[in-house]
Amino acid sequence: MKNFHLDLVRVTEAGAISAAEWVGRGDKEAADKAATNAMRDRLNKIDFSAEIAIGEGKKDNSHGLYEGEMVGAGWEIYPSTPEQCIFGNVLYDIAIDPIEGTTPTAKGGYEAMSVIALANKDCFYKTERFYMMKLAVGPKVAKRANLQLDMGIGEVVSHVADALGKNLEHVTVCVLDRPRSQPLVEALRVLGCRIKFISDCDVTACIATCVEDSGIDLYWSIGGSPEAVIAAAAMKCMGGYMLCSEVNDDFKLVGKSLTMEDLAKGPTMFAATGITDGSLLEGVRFTARGPITNSIAMRSESGTIRRIRTEHG
Ligand code: FBP
Repeated sequence: MKNFHLDLVRVTEAGAISAAEWVGRGDKEAADKAATNAMRDRLNKIDFSAEIAIGEGKKDNSHGLYEGEMVGAGWEIYPSTPEQCIFGNVLYDIAIDPIEGTTPTAKGGYEAMSVIALANKDCFYKTERFYMMKLAVGPKVAKRANLQLDMGIGEVVSHVADALGKNLEHVTVCVLDRPRSQPLVEALRVLGCRIKFISDCDVTACIATCVEDSGIDLYWSIGGSPEAVIAAAAMKCMGGYMLCSEVNDDFKLVGKSLTMEDLAKGPTMFAATGITDGSLLEGVRFTARGPITNSIAMRSESGTIRRIRTEHG
């Protein structure tokens, strides 16, 4: 797969800088619009023809980058149709979230980032379901344990503890702080392991399981389906492991378990730029010379993980 590493970083940098103008201003929609437009402009300068496979939800009053939109310099007219593609075939699928963490952006909180993932055409998993159950672990656990979503929480946590060579009481499970997580939280408290609650941004939480010393050993919660696909693309680059299942409106598992490969088939690339400060990335700094951004870019084929600090002139 052609390496679009730096092109993708330019896209997330543009999104993060535009979103950062709106940090703490309490206007999610304006922030989202600014980030979406900036990312689309950048995407349309890349020499490829790609389709947004996982994008913004029309129902959220978003401003484009919807599923089915064509992007890249390979499109003569925007928005376009496959027939108008001057480069011939649409080669790539894009999964994009201009602002992963609209609430922390609007409130000046933590962990908001602009994110994008790329795969070959028709390789990202599409669903109408809003939420998925997600379980994510880092490379050490991935290599040793055969985790399943239908295992009891006790069994999963003890596999994680064994693989990491630590006591169960020292395993830290990251949980999205929502009422629907309550049964899981109660079970974890009975087991006696540590819990890190997050208010938003579970793409970062999944990635954190792959970062040594991040303080997160296991992520387990019900969060957004698009974020599951984006996280899977990133976890493949980092050697982690992720299992998901769609859930119905009562948050009951439906359908089969989805592996990382089901969510993001084949080679993937991932890039993210911090909007606000977070555990993975620092947010945008505005200086007299121009904005400074911090990004991460990864490629599954090489396993390269690049951290990029950019001073924009
Ligand atoms: P937004 O970017 O749409 O604000 O979503 C952030 C997020 O926290 C995701 O990381 C997470 O998967 C999802 O929302 C959880 O959804 P909900 O807030 O509806 O529980």
